Amino acid sequence: MDKLLIRGGRELRGTVQISGAKNAALPQMCAALLTTERVTLLNVPRLRDIATMRQLLDNMGVKTQTHGERGGLTLCAANPISPEAPYELVKTMRASVLALGPLLARFGEATVSLPGGCAIGSRPVDQHIKGLQAMGADITVEHGYMIARLAAGQTRLRGARITTDMVTVTGTENLMMAATLAQGETILENAAQEPEIPDLADMLIKMGARIEGHGTSRIRIQGVEKLHGCEHQVVADRIEAGTFLCATAATGGDVYLKHGRADHLEAVIEKLRDAGATVTAVQDGIRIQSSGRLQAQSFRTTEYPGFPTDMQAQFMALNCVSSGTAKVTETIFENRFMHVNELVRLGAKIQIDGKVSVVEGVEKLSGATLMATDLRASAGLVIAGLMASGDTLVDRIYHLDRGYDQMEAKLQAIGADIERVK
Ligand code: EPZ
Repeated sequence: MDKLLIRGGRELRGTVQISGAKNAALPQMCAALLTTERVTLLNVPRLRDIATMRQLLDNMGVKTQTHGERGGLTLCAANPISPEAPYELVKTMRASVLALGPLLARFGEATVSLPGGCAIGSRPVDQHIKGLQAMGADITVEHGYMIARLAAGQTRLRGARITTDMVTVTGTENLMMAATLAQGETILENAAQEPEIPDLADMLIKMGARIEGHGTSRIRIQGVEKLHGCEHQVVADRIEAGTFLCATAATGGDVYLKHGRADHLEAVIEKLRDAGATVTAVQDGIRIQSSGRLQAQSFRTTEYPGFPTDMQAQFMALNCVSSGTAKVTETIFENRFMHVNELVRLGAKIQIDGKVSVVEGVEKLSGATLMATDLRASAGLVIAGLMASGDTLVDRIYHLDRGYDQMEAKLQAIGADIERVK
């Protein structure tokens, strides 16, 4: 099992190239199921979840092919396709549920394993099911699988007005994809506004879909008869960029994030500026300069454009050594403080009280052996290791590999003393 060995205390200086967004590429790969024609995605990040999604689509009969330099991935879902997503693949990646909407829209049937929970929470998909049922799907759950069919007498999904009980990112994506081929108009109220949603909509529009309002809480889709192929560049990963911003703020230094989108990270950048870092939007990227001890910042995670839950662990790590006390409130997931006990092993002073963690900044953290528990928690532990004195060994970094494209190589290139050990 791979580990990361980090010798902390070094500043970060130089340029990091931000990869395409995992959480944009995953639904866009599923969107290829909506057409028989070839779809080409560019700037696809090289990481585990992308490989898992490829395996899932290959398993259905989709032809996929990577092509070299620009992170190119071509997908072709010409017939025949078996509309199934088996448990052994779905259990490792919840985003597999994103196949459900496209399969139903194109083939009128789908058998997709329920994702099961994961480390950060139960992660139900009841809103995905509710929305598809409103569009005329019969969905039953048997032996851990969602068995979806069109209701008797229906040859296509039909447009509907759907208000999800809460804002759901993949729920919005699933329903938006399904609606592109439905009969009539679909209106998604309470839609998620994360940048990955407009990026998916932009791709679907290139395929011939008719979508308005993407990026707002109300998305309108007019169904069409069929969609054609397209080429689309995946938007830059705002969470990878945010992670490197927090790392540089924590260690001190001067880093340019090439391709980073400051307009997708306003809530995080505002908190970093309040903490005392200098963050500027520059030509095709973001620059961060930071030196000395920062001021601790309280924050609460909310849906976009609020502070992203996927940045909570990373900014908490920064708060551990900032001056003052900060309250970190996690409102999206019920169990997303597992990095706290690991940070305490480095000497951090953190008290958890339900949805709130109170972080009292200390002068210095000291290196220790840590265990990663989930994707973004492991990013927080890496940041803590980069600023702790002495050696930090982060175990179970397969969690990190799910969502970060060559993180240690990118960190080494800007001065970090970090290496992958078996
Ligand atoms: C997406 O997960 C992201 N994953 C997550 O990133 C991210 O943390 C999350 O959105 C929130 O921003 C992908 O895009 C692949 P939700 P998703 O549906 O869509 C509840 C990472 O690190 N809910 O927006 O699964 C749910 O339990 C991952 O890359 C229901 O109750 O999250 C949660 O409390 C981790 N029923 C809240 O809504 C449903 O049917 C938001 O979940 C759907 C969601």
